[in-house]
This record gives sequence, structure tokens and C-alpha cells, in this order.
Amino acid sequence: MEYAKAEKLLKACGQEHLLSGWSELSKKAKDALLAQIATIDPEEIERCRAALCASAPAAAAVKSSGAAPKVATLKGVALAKAVAAGERELKAGRVAALLVAGGQGSRLGYDGPKGCYPIGPISDAPLFHFHARKILARSRRYGATIPWYVMTSEANNAETVACFERHGYFGLDPKSVFFFTQGMWPGMTKDGKIILDAPGHVFMSPDGHGGLLAALKRSGALDDMKRRGVRSVFFFQVDNPLVEVADPAFIGYHVMQKSEYSLKLCAKRDPYEKVGMPMRFGKSFRMVEYTEMTDEQCNRRTSDGELYFKYGSPAIHVFDRAFLAREASKAMPLHLAFKKIPVFDGKKVVKPAEPNGYKFEKFIFDILPNAKRAAFLAFDQKDEFSPVKNAEGGDSPATCKADMQAKWSRWFAASGINVPQGFPLEIDPVYALDAAELAKRGIRLGAE
Ligand code: UD1
Repeated sequence: MEYAKAEKLLKACGQEHLLSGWSELSKKAKDALLAQIATIDPEEIERCRAALCASAPAAAAVKSSGAAPKVATLKGVALAKAVAAGERELKAGRVAALLVAGGQGSRLGYDGPKGCYPIGPISDAPLFHFHARKILARSRRYGATIPWYVMTSEANNAETVACFERHGYFGLDPKSVFFFTQGMWPGMTKDGKIILDAPGHVFMSPDGHGGLLAALKRSGALDDMKRRGVRSVFFFQVDNPLVEVADPAFIGYHVMQKSEYSLKLCAKRDPYEKVGMPMRFGKSFRMVEYTEMTDEQCNRRTSDGELYFKYGSPAIHVFDRAFLAREASKAMPLHLAFKKIPVFDGKKVVKPAEPNGYKFEKFIFDILPNAKRAAFLAFDQKDEFSPVKNAEGGDSPATCKADMQAKWSRWFAASGINVPQGFPLEIDPVYALDAAELAKRGIRLGAE
């Protein structure tokens, strides 16, 4: 982009202050600033400014009228039917995996893409290993490729790709792995001015996992899915190595329900667990974040003493590809986060002690109300959800590793082998994807 064009664009959206220190910048810094300005979409900037002016979100209305959705539990014949339907979908090559891994993982305090975090209890294999090896094992089992779309951000894309290369794509064919980067949005002051965090440098942060839709479209990933004949897209987050990627029961249930957006849900571990909660409003559904729930809602009980809002979302979804394509051209709601953002004041960089500016994010689950049909399926948290979010305490590497080992111990127990407490255990998904496959391996623990 040329200077004159940048100036015109910025004037049109009231952000010409970004060029105020232009003459003092080096040639390199000037080019970098113009490149940043080129990514600014005046319409999006206007939406951000409008979001700053809007009064508090319509959370009050949401809080009073939401109802718990009907959640299915599959057992016996119903489970077998769903598995068969999912297996047909997998064998026909109509399933893709979609991972969001563009987040900054600041709570974990890990300096690198979260997917590279060493989580294998014995091997120290990264989070990506467990996802990739499940995709590989499932592809082999059903004799069809499961293309894998991995969303990164500008900040972690190169390191993510390097991690895959270092590990030989974990055994996957690189042609079936499609990396694409999400968008970055500038931060703003309360009065809608874009923030420079260094001379000639705009403060930018990833546009949230909802940036997925625009990025899928922009990168050609949506077209690639269509070309490959994909119909069901299995969505998951990078921080949960217990997730059963492309699980046939869930995919089958989604297809049988003719759903456009299906969600796996699990009973909350405590009323205040930090997970989103889908609620019904009339005929449609909407995800209510844990931060939006009132004390009353968190603790409401049914007559038999169970939590009324019993289920939370571990962010494991199946989308109909055509639904994603339909939604990809629409503007998504914006969520604001008030943060401490360094500011270049024309002379020096000031690091604020208190929040001073806004980041903007889109959340993928905001498309839930637009689904013509949605489906909710319950599963057991201890088998499929143990995220790595914090460095210590709950949802940390320690709890996650313990949960992985407990799951594998249950697989051994199903074969009549009791694993002693504390026995070091790790199973490569390609060796055994589930308890039944482990049983077939005829494995023994320790020396015979
Ligand atoms: C998220 C969900 C919550 C759900 C919980 C389950 C939100 C707002 N909330 O919470 O409903 O119950 O997970 O664990 O998402 N990511 C990107 N780009 C971004 C931001 C995030 O790709 O710009 C990815 C992250 O890499 C991660 C996932 O999205 O894989 C979730 O992000 P995170 O910030 O960890 O969400 P939570 O607040 O933990």
C-alpha cells in the first residue's frame, strides 16, 4: 500500500493519527506500518467503534429468559445406530477435522504455540501429537483421508508449521494438513482511536476463534473442503488432548439429526465451572458464557436436586460444511475485552498499570442461533475433556496428564488388567484408539 492510499483510508475512518510520526520512521518501519494499515478494513473499524459506543450487551434479557436445552444421551441401540451412521460418513471421506490453535495461551504462561506444549506423560509429546495421531488412526481405520484444517495466528503460524515439520507431521500426509491464519484486529482506546504500541506500530491481537469463518473463506479452506466432498466438520480446541477427534458416534448423531451445528456437552464439574452454556431462547439457541451467568443461574436446581443448567460446552462441535459456508460471509458479533495495552504517546512507550484499551474478538459459537437445526449430545467429561489452561491448579498440565493416564488405566481395566496407581502410562493413539483396540493388542503390563 502507498502512503497516499493509507492516508485516505485512515481519514475515512478517523484514524489519521497513525501517520503522525511518519517522517521520523525508518524506511523499514514505514513499510511495516503501511503493511499493517493495509489489513485495516474501514467497515470493521466502524463496527468496533460502534461496539464501544453501544450500551452493555443484552445480557440482562438473556439472563432472565434462557432455558436449558434438551440434551441426548446415547446408549444401546441408539448408540450403535449413531456409530454406524458416523462410520459411513467417515468411510465415504465426508469428514474433516478443524482445529483452532491461534490463541495466545497467556494463562498457561508458555512461550510458544500452545499446541507445541509437551503433554505426553512419558514422551513429552506435544498437544498436536495427540490430535494428529487420532486423525491418522481414524483415517486408517476407515480407509479414508480426514483432511485437517489448522487455524493459527500471525503470531504463532511459523512456529506451528515448524513443530509439524520437526515431527514429520506426526505421520500424516502433509497434503492432508491445511494451515491457515486468522485475522488480527487493532486495539482501541475508549474513544475509538486505534492504539500505536511503539513508534509506527499498531497494536494488534488475534480476532478470536470466530475469526475462523472469515479465515476459512479467505484462505480457500472452505473451497478445499467442498472439492474434497466434505460434509461434516469436526471442530475442536488445541488445549484438550482427551478429545476424541472425529468420533463416529457424535458425527453420526449430527448427520441423523440433520443438524447444522451440533455440540457435545458434559455435566459441569462444579456450578461455577468456566465453560460456556448453550441456552434455548424460544426456537433458537445461544451460547451463554460463564462470565454472563448469574449466581442464581449457576446454582438453580431441578426438583430432584440436579443443577438445572447441568451441562457445559467443552467446545467440541460438528458443523455442516454448507452451514459454515453460508455463515462465512456474514458479520459476526463483536466481544470486547478491556486490557492493559502499551501506548506510544509520541515520545515514549507507556505501560499502563490499569486497563486502558479494548481488544475485539469474535466467537465461533455466536453462529449457533443461525443454525436451522442444532443438536446437543451428552458425554462423560472424564473421558473427553481435560483442558490445559493454567500453569498450576485446576485445568493445568498436571491435572491433564493425570486424567489422560486415568483414561488409559480404564482401558486396561476393561481388559481385566489393573494398572497400579502411579504406574507410568502412555498410549499412542495409532497403537490403540480406544479400549477395544487395546484389548485386541493383547497387551501385558510390565515383565511377564
Ligand atoms: C473456551 C470457550 C468456552 C468453553 C471452553 C472449553 C470462549 C470465549 N470460551 O474458553 O465456552 O467452555 O473454551 O475449554 O471461547 N483461539 C484461537 N484464536 C483466538 C482465540 C482463541 O484460535 O483468537 C483458540 C485457542 O487457541 C483455543 C480456543 O480457541 O484452542 C479457546 O480459547 P481460550 O481463550 O482458551 O478459551 P477459554 O476462555 O478457555
